[in-house]
Amino acid sequence: MEAFHGKFYIAGEFKERYVIVDDGVIKGVKAEAPGMEVKSLPGYILPGGVDMHVHFRDPGETDKEDFGTGSLSSILGGTTTVCDMPNNKVPVDTPEAFSSKLSAVRNKSYADFALYQAASSAVVRNAIGEKIFLGKSTGGLLTDLERCKWQDKVKVVHAELQECLDLNFRESDSLISHDMARPLECEIDAIQHIFRYRLTKIHIAHVTSLRSLELAKSLGFTTEVTPHHILLNNSVPIGPFGKVNPPLRKKSVQEELLNNLNSKLIDVISSDHAPHKRKEKESFKEAPSGIPGVETRVPLVLWLQTKGFISMGKAVSALMERPAQICRINKGYIAEGFDADFISVDLKKPVRIREERLHSKCGWTPFGDFEGIFPDLVFLRGNLIVQEGEAISSPSGEFLDAEVK
Ligand code: DOR
Ligand code: ZN
Repeated sequence: MEAFHGKFYIAGEFKERYVIVDDGVIKGVKAEAPGMEVKSLPGYILPGGVDMHVHFRDPGETDKEDFGTGSLSSILGGTTTVCDMPNNKVPVDTPEAFSSKLSAVRNKSYADFALYQAASSAVVRNAIGEKIFLGKSTGGLLTDLERCKWQDKVKVVHAELQECLDLNFRESDSLISHDMARPLECEIDAIQHIFRYRLTKIHIAHVTSLRSLELAKSLGFTTEVTPHHILLNNSVPIGPFGKVNPPLRKKSVQEELLNNLNSKLIDVISSDHAPHKRKEKESFKEAPSGIPGVETRVPLVLWLQTKGFISMGKAVSALMERPAQICRINKGYIAEGFDADFISVDLKKPVRIREERLHSKCGWTPFGDFEGIFPDLVFLRGNLIVQEGEAISSPSGEFLDAEVK
């Protein structure tokens, strides 16, 4: 049993408190801790980040990323829990594929981690939830909703409807034509389509516009936006490095998201970390879609907080609390009974985001024009794993088994 002392974010405000931790779990939050061993923490202390949407490429495409580099990148950006997507080279849509992925990644992770299954006729009881692809994206998966078996867990929907993508197909050579090939209408159609199936716990991933957020919320879904759709648009001069599905939209649509970050229409901000090699991103036509972002998600949003675009309450809710609730994991809050995952940040110390300071194997970022507030210290279940912006331990992340007992 030990106590951590500092300015913790608790129930909507920073409070100077003693947080009592035993065996990695918060046992109490107190105004005093007489007689206890106390560690004093500097700065503002937030719950560790929860990124419920990453693609770490392991196994199968470890030349782009592996669970070690992806999770190292996460913790250095203040994210202590990640949920990894199933569009691996061998799709993770059966218990066998899931076990084989789990054994490949099990001992490599610096962050606690959960894994999704691709929705299919097979149920993977250990998966954190199901991923539904209503349109083909990187990996080419398309879900046959008629054949799927469902669990009572989050269902993350890639909302671009294939029929609509087929109607709009064109070879794209720019961010604007990529947007025309996969227009906002396909996102709207997909959100309406999935409603017809009357499924529980539908979570619409990477929503690109206020209009689609309104629709998704009106249908009772939870929603997610990404830093790239909030901060970048189809006029930024980054060519193939901005190619992503769903696409970056026009500036006015992007700015509408940026200016409504405090809205109740948004539940979660996820990175959709989707690394591809720099070499693959040379020609627009050939480039695979996807943008890396697991290391910059928390830092960018905290920087947006200092600039007045988002309140601290909403930032913590979208980066930590809501993803943990939606995935039903014991994370995201500094409160009794939750895992002792904390990050300490200096809100007065933004730094310019530079690709050579990031840790994804892909080696590039589209956010080089922005600043971020990176954590100085990171604790995972009470253990210090990042100090002065450096990882100081070997991989100690645990698999979050969602098996319903
Ligand atoms: O742009 C994307 N990249 N969208 C997806 O849906 C998948 C992702 C990837 O895995 O690269
Ligand atoms: Zn994704």
